Amino acid sequence: MTKRVLVLPGDGIGPEIVAEAVKVLDHLAGEGLDVELDEGLIGGAAYDAAGSPLPESTLAMAREADAVLLGAVGGPKWEPLDIAVRPEKGLLGLRAGLGLFSNLRPAILYPQLASASSLRPEIVSGLDIMIVRELTGGIYFGQPRGIRTLENGERQGFNTLVYAEHEIERIVRSACEIAMKRGKRLCSVDKANVLECTELWREVATRVVKSEYPQIELSHMYVDNAAMQLVKWPKQFDVMVTTNMFGDILSDAAAMLTGSIGMLPSASLNEKGQGMYEPIHGSAPDIAGKGIANPLATILSVAMMLRYSLNEAGMADRIEKAVVAVLDKGLRTPDIMSEGMTEVNCEGMGDALVAAL
Ligand code: IPM
Ligand code: MG
Repeated sequence: MTKRVLVLPGDGIGPEIVAEAVKVLDHLAGEGLDVELDEGLIGGAAYDAAGSPLPESTLAMAREADAVLLGAVGGPKWEPLDIAVRPEKGLLGLRAGLGLFSNLRPAILYPQLASASSLRPEIVSGLDIMIVRELTGGIYFGQPRGIRTLENGERQGFNTLVYAEHEIERIVRSACEIAMKRGKRLCSVDKANVLECTELWREVATRVVKSEYPQIELSHMYVDNAAMQLVKWPKQFDVMVTTNMFGDILSDAAAMLTGSIGMLPSASLNEKGQGMYEPIHGSAPDIAGKGIANPLATILSVAMMLRYSLNEAGMADRIEKAVVAVLDKGLRTPDIMSEGMTEVNCEGMGDALVAAL
């Protein structure tokens, strides 16, 4: 059956990098991948065209699709807007609207790029971590929230950190399924010494792993220590599972261990296996429109899409091998450029990738 992929280029470098990823999908379609692509609006581009960062039509198309490929959202142009209609709200609305609770953020160090890390090579060489971030709950979505005026006239900002047991259970299960296919080690990250909500998180994580995945070695870590351990000895981790906000923060730190945030894809999955795939870097407004962005994170997101939503693991493997091949050839976009390598632009990298395929 034909699979439907909704393409949402978004803002900033989004359209440039997505164009290269679409080239890869088109190439695979020519080899028999049965996909149909639709395109929609999201983020600032959607606000400009339709007055909303997530138009109804985009959400409706996303619900019908087997997978969504997203570029990036946001930029200084939309910063003055009310938080309710900022581009980021489009992304959050899509995550919530599709129930994409499980966010997989791999941090893999490509040996060819070891010198790009700010850490010593022996600390990061061979690094391969998977951060599983809860994506539709926690403080990002908790009610009540807002900015209110107190009786004394002073303003107070407030947000709420909430997790129900079922939300913790399903994200821990999701992380366990991944750990089972890897090193069978899971580290659950919380702040159980201070926050009751994550005291419950720890308790539920322990119960799920003990009763359903006894083969997995589970450890717990406070988030402050986890941040330190990530930069001290990152190779101690296999799979990490954590809350929405902790995962947001830790995954940026983990990404930078690899020295190249422009290389890292992500997948956000719901209970039906429907997924949204996006590079973990943002819209990079400073280089938007220059054609120099690194499209590899988006192309690797296509590989994750093939693996997790389109049931085409073989094609996913081929894309990942093609990425290694272009790096071996010495081709580098400016963000990963180093001495003796050949600098290419966004389009050049996309073309080289298709050629390697
Ligand atoms: C991310 C981003 C988003 C988040 C923003 C753009 C809303 O930082 O995907 O990590 O905070 O989740
Ligand atoms: Mg983030």
